[in-house]
Amino acid sequence: LRQILPKNSSDPPHVFHWIPIVGSAIEYGTNPVPFFMKNKEKHGDVFTFTMLGREITAALGAKGNNFVLGGKSLDFNAEDAYTHFTTPVFGTDVVYDVPNDVFMQQKKFVKVALSVDKFRSYVGMIEEEVEDFIASEPCFAAAKTKGEWGSFDVVDVMQEITILTASRTLQGKEIRSALDKSFAGLYNDLDGGFTPLNFLFPNLPLPSYRKRDAANKKMTEFYVDILRKRIAAGEVDEEDTMASLVQQRYKDGRPLKEHEIAHIMIALLMAGQHTSSATGSWVLLHVARNPDVAQAIYDEQVKHFASPDGRLRDMTYEEMRELPVLDSVIRETLRVHPPIHSIMRKVREPVPVPATLSSPAGKTEGVFVVPKGHFVLASPSVSQVDPTVWADAETWEPKRWREQSGAAASAKEYEKGDGETIDYGYGAVSKGTESPYQPFGAGRHRCIGEQFAYLQLGTILATFVRDFELKLAHDVPEHNYHTMIVMPKHPRQIQYRRRQ
Ligand code: HEM
Repeated sequence: LRQILPKNSSDPPHVFHWIPIVGSAIEYGTNPVPFFMKNKEKHGDVFTFTMLGREITAALGAKGNNFVLGGKSLDFNAEDAYTHFTTPVFGTDVVYDVPNDVFMQQKKFVKVALSVDKFRSYVGMIEEEVEDFIASEPCFAAAKTKGEWGSFDVVDVMQEITILTASRTLQGKEIRSALDKSFAGLYNDLDGGFTPLNFLFPNLPLPSYRKRDAANKKMTEFYVDILRKRIAAGEVDEEDTMASLVQQRYKDGRPLKEHEIAHIMIALLMAGQHTSSATGSWVLLHVARNPDVAQAIYDEQVKHFASPDGRLRDMTYEEMRELPVLDSVIRETLRVHPPIHSIMRKVREPVPVPATLSSPAGKTEGVFVVPKGHFVLASPSVSQVDPTVWADAETWEPKRWREQSGAAASAKEYEKGDGETIDYGYGAVSKGTESPYQPFGAGRHRCIGEQFAYLQLGTILATFVRDFELKLAHDVPEHNYHTMIVMPKHPRQIQYRRRQ
């Protein structure tokens, strides 16, 4: 009865559950999209559900995204929602372990490191890493024999390629060479602390938690050691992220401390690893399943990069940004498979729900207030397949991004505006918050890795398509929501043959 009668008449409607505390955790955790859709039909865009003792108010659709991500105030707070989970992995004094204005400055520092100037040199490096990997991995042995088909587990391969390419480019040469040795083990231990269990229970007396903490400490020492060696050798002007961080200053003139630099580097490593490797896996699965799309990507490569001797020359960064087929394949994959399905904030002060969000009873304004202590949740996984926005919403169709008109095209127009610089002061930060397309989030907490991710994924995809014909003997797998980032379920074996 307590569930049916809200505590306050202004509380949003509550999803019914049978088991106290656990609430809707199993249904939400198994597959959030049908759970959201079912409750949207019943309650409207805004409703609350219980998940392991937390009260979560979902706000769905583009308007819901705007409500959660576009708030001018800090009443919807990211630190309170995430720090218990991220600080043991990233380390102290960065990201959600500091007040938001400090983190915004840290984001700005990293943006300097992620400049177009640096990106120009990254295309060749990424291509080289992929080719070296293919040449040395046993699962690509068949690539050496003309006409022979082989196969690989796409997630295993993409996880390796993502960390190799991100290390070679963003992390710097020392980390890249240590990856072949001690650093890989440390990374795995740290990654073992980045799971839904850790999100729900930040501190359990389990070996994986102890390994996580030990790995954070050792990895911090590792980065600090590199930093000190570089400074001692007068090498601080190296062209990578760490070097760039050494030169940055907070608003009050203070340089970053050694451990802050180390922890920002760890945060970048973790933020980009699963998001990009999951996206790369989905991209290759769809391309392998759709030979006509693979052919279109290949034709585009030939059109732009074929030399007189028939070989394909290297792409430049600028050229890669002008490849509509390649771009649309990544963009569409992020629409259907956004790696982050739920974006959360914790509510510091009660916030009224705006009229633009609908409920079956009509307008919500003056009716619902999200109470203090709740979490609010926006879901790109829902707005990105909203049938009122996207034609044939569930179907993976990259062509929709190359059309000149229609709902998808206008979403792209909207998104274009997001590419502009965001001021990480406390000024106008809310670009893109009301877009239905938000694989990289929006507003103040919007991703800073988007351009790098496109560069990394585009180069990896082009290299695979140049080298191989790909096939998938089964359908594109379903989503596995039991991992922190949405991954493909098994089977996920792609067949390949060296292009003739
Ligand atoms: C934030 C997605 C790659 C660094 C975000 C957010 C999303 C996202 C949805 C918003 C989170 C929120 O509002 O709570 C993705 C996807 C990626 C990707 C889909 C790849 C396909 C990267 C990479 C880096 C990175 C490569 C680093 C080089 C960050 C950072 C934030 C962020 C620093 C800011 C968090 C905040 O302000 O609270 N990303 N990301 N991401 N991402 Fe990414």
